[in-house]
Amino acid sequence: MATKILVTGGTGYIGSHTTVELQQAGYEVVIIDNLSNSSIDVLDGIESITGIRPAFVEGDVCDIETLRSLFRAHPGIKGIINFAASKAVGESVEKPLLYYRNNLNSLMNLLECMPEYGVRGIVFSSSCTVYGEPDKNPIDETAPIKPATSPYGNTKQISEEIIADFITSGAPIKSILLRYFNPVGAHPSALIGELPNGVPNNLVPYLTQTAAGIRKELTVFGNDYNTPDGSCIRDFIDVVDLAKAHVAAMHRMLDNDDTDAVEIFNLGTGRGVSVMELIEGFERSTGVKVPYKIGPRRAGDIEQIWAIPDKANNVLGWKAEVPVEETLRKAWAWQCHLAERK
Ligand code: UD1
Repeated sequence: MATKILVTGGTGYIGSHTTVELQQAGYEVVIIDNLSNSSIDVLDGIESITGIRPAFVEGDVCDIETLRSLFRAHPGIKGIINFAASKAVGESVEKPLLYYRNNLNSLMNLLECMPEYGVRGIVFSSSCTVYGEPDKNPIDETAPIKPATSPYGNTKQISEEIIADFITSGAPIKSILLRYFNPVGAHPSALIGELPNGVPNNLVPYLTQTAAGIRKELTVFGNDYNTPDGSCIRDFIDVVDLAKAHVAAMHRMLDNDDTDAVEIFNLGTGRGVSVMELIEGFERSTGVKVPYKIGPRRAGDIEQIWAIPDKANNVLGWKAEVPVEETLRKAWAWQCHLAERK
């Protein structure tokens, strides 16, 4: 019988790509999502790609009774992947209580339910933001955790601690904390991708919307950083590669008795790419020009950060494979698909 997995936030950007990979790997998926930042139509995309429509519960993970009735209605869930969280750094500075409430209550509710319903493991979506501005690059999982620069970042640090403390207290569960670098791109089918609400905050959706003429020009936030071309450097990881890492993590967590109760992995490519290089890579791989200007630095930005992904490569047996130019072509194909749908 297929192992049943609960994917919270499963109609969102990373959640939908992970649902596809889980189903293709033979897992049975139940999604809960409150559709606050995603659309029910995403289920059609998942079904078109995989031939399977995942079970779907519209509801809020912050409501523990909703969760309990989900576990009663879908008995036998063995693992959880927790994507249901708010993730806009700027918004978190304006609405800190919303972020703490949403991101922490949902996690605590899931943890509380796990022993009650025999759920053995939870994969948690953490972020490289926990490392702050690193002392040196690239960084592995032993790099120090720096004070968070936003409530959003703080929720990731606190969530990691909540999970570890709960397990230390003797809770009969395991967890894998995945620290994502910068997930970008879309599914090669162009049937699912990122659906930003309003004006995008993140680089790649802003870039593809500018290329499509929805935005007048992209602003590069600063070209006076201490980097070779002066723009910030990130580790851009293809969202399908990222999704596959969750399948590897779930397999490791549920199917091995001798792994540590809490494990941490960086999910990145191991390559640092600057904002300017990314724009050039997009233009080269799609043949589409992106009007841009250089603007001031954005408050709170880290100058440069990229991963040593060796632990994930060696222990999870997973490696980021998609070259960044192919990822950008897929992001563009998705943007074009969105324009056709309108
Ligand atoms: C941020 C968060 C990260 C979070 C991610 C997703 C921090 C330090 N980082 O990543 O934890 O998981 O968002 O929400 O909290 N840029 C431009 N022009 C734009 C947009 C972005 O030049 O219009 C630049 C930024 O200055 C940055 C790079 O592009 O140097 C990437 O920005 P973005 O895509 O927003 O991601 P991060 O800030 O790296």
